[in-house]
Amino acid sequence: MRETNYHIIVAAGSGSRYGGNLPKQFCDLNGRPLLMTTIERLHDATPDAEIIVVLSADMVEMWGEMCREHAFTLSHLIATGGPTRAHSVKNAVTLIEQRLAADSCGRCRWISVHDAARPVVTRPMVEALISSLKEADGAIPACRVTDSIRLIGPDGSSHAVDRSMYRAVQTPQIFHAAKLIAAYRQPLQPEFTDDASVMEAAGYDALCLVDGDPHNIKVTNPGDMAIASLYLAETI
Ligand code: CTP
Ligand code: MG
Repeated sequence: MRETNYHIIVAAGSGSRYGGNLPKQFCDLNGRPLLMTTIERLHDATPDAEIIVVLSADMVEMWGEMCREHAFTLSHLIATGGPTRAHSVKNAVTLIEQRLAADSCGRCRWISVHDAARPVVTRPMVEALISSLKEADGAIPACRVTDSIRLIGPDGSSHAVDRSMYRAVQTPQIFHAAKLIAAYRQPLQPEFTDDASVMEAAGYDALCLVDGDPHNIKVTNPGDMAIASLYLAETI
């Protein structure tokens, strides 16, 4: 049976911390909008997978113009963004569900969800995640924390905690397709900051942690674009 897997790239945020007139995913990275690098690198990692880019409705036309201007022809589907990241992912998951329902002979084994704002994603990371999925509900990249960590109490006081007990989680996060689709049927909660938290809340908590990559940064604050450019020059 034919197998089609999907990468969802969420690119419907406003980039408030980054600032500027244009959301960061459309800002210049090495001569073209950052989002093009993210799409291209995921495509290169798994050329047979379909890519869905989630855009806010008012950016769809502009994105089409950017693609024409930069002769960017890599095939991708567009879904519409929502008020939070989780809503944006849900809209793409619904699109996948509709496509699967319309194609009775196709099969989807995995769905990955990736932040558009992480252009330094690498093929070895994607391959490690896919191979770790075999016995798990999902596979997610996680890094040891290098800063010291303090826990803040309700009264504003703080105390040091053991940082070796914590991991910082990145994307792409890759999930068993049917389980991710089921997880996104639950009501969305404000504490769903990533897709692993959505899966866990639905009871799919067999999540395999794969070594993250400190270079796989999420462009968040002004200055991060230059760092991403530097890391891109160093990675494959
Ligand atoms: N995202 C999205 N839909 C939303 C909010 C976020 O698709 N409603 C996407 C962003 O475009 C980004 C990814 O989720 O690629 C991670 O979010 P974040 O880095 O927080 O981006 P923004 O929400 O755009 O930035 P900020 O929080 O600074 O406003
Ligand atoms: Mg945000």
